[in-house]
Amino acid sequence: MGTTASLRLAATADLHLRPAVAGKFRPGFLDLDRHADLLLLAGDLTEGGTVANTELLCAELADLPVPVVAVLGNHDHDENRGEFITRRLTDTGVVVLDGDSTVLTLCGHRIGIAGVMGGSGGFPGHPGDPERGSAEHRARMRRGPVDARRLRQALDGLDCATRVALTHFAPVVETLAGERESIYPGLGCHALGEAIDAGRATLALHGHAHAGSECGRTEGGVPVRNVSYPVLRRTYAVYDLAVDARRVRPPSP
Ligand SMILES: [Fe+2]
Ligand SMILES: [Fe+2]
Repeated sequence: MGTTASLRLAATADLHLRPAVAGKFRPGFLDLDRHADLLLLAGDLTEGGTVANTELLCAELADLPVPVVAVLGNHDHDENRGEFITRRLTDTGVVVLDGDSTVLTLCGHRIGIAGVMGGSGGFPGHPGDPERGSAEHRARMRRGPVDARRLRQALDGLDCATRVALTHFAPVVETLAGERESIYPGLGCHALGEAIDAGRATLALHGHAHAGSECGRTEGGVPVRNVSYPVLRRTYAVYDLAVDARRVRPPSP
C-alpha cells in the first residue's frame, strides 16, 4: 500500500452484541479493507457485559483485515467483567485502551489513538450533581473528570501529529442533540472536551448517546463524531482523516 495524503478511519459504537444481532455486523467488518485503514470501536460493545455476549463480540471481530482499537463502555462493565472482556478482545487481536494510547503506522503515516471510557459530569448549561442518584450514577459522575485527566495524559504522551481521542461518553453537547436535555449530564462530560482541546487531538470519536447526532465540534474546534450505531444506522462510518492537517473531511456516503 503506497503513501497517501489521508487515512480512512472506520468507527462505530454501541453494537450491544447479543444473540438477536449476532452475525449482523460481520459481513461489513470482513469487507473493511476496501473502505478503511483501521476500525475504532467506542464502547458498549456487548449487551450487559456477559461472558456469552463477549464471545459473540469476539466472533464478530475475529481475523478482520484492518487493525482494530477499542474502548469499553458502561454496559461492558455491567457484570464487572471489564478485565475479562479486555483479555478476550486482546486475544482476538483488538487493542483495548483505558487511559493509555497506541501508535499505528498506516499507509506510511503514524497515527496515535488515546482512549478512555470517560464518564458523566455534565456541561455548561447542563450541570450534573455528583451527590445525587444511585451509587452507579455517582460513580459515573466522579469518573468523567478523572478520565478526562487520563485522556489528556494519554494524548500528551503521543509523539505524532495525527492524534485521535476515543471515548465512550460524549465530550460535547452538540452530538447529544436528539437526546432529552434532562439526561445530557449523564451522557458525557465537558472536561473530556477540554482534554481533547488541550491534548491537541485531530479528531474525537464517542458513542453512548444512541439518540444523539453524528457531528459536532469542541470549543477549540476539534471535530467530534458520535459513532453510536443507532445514530449512524450503518455498521460503521468512514472518515477521511487528512494527515499532518487538523481537519477531518465529511463522512463518506
Ligand atoms: Fe450503548
Ligand atoms: Fe453507554
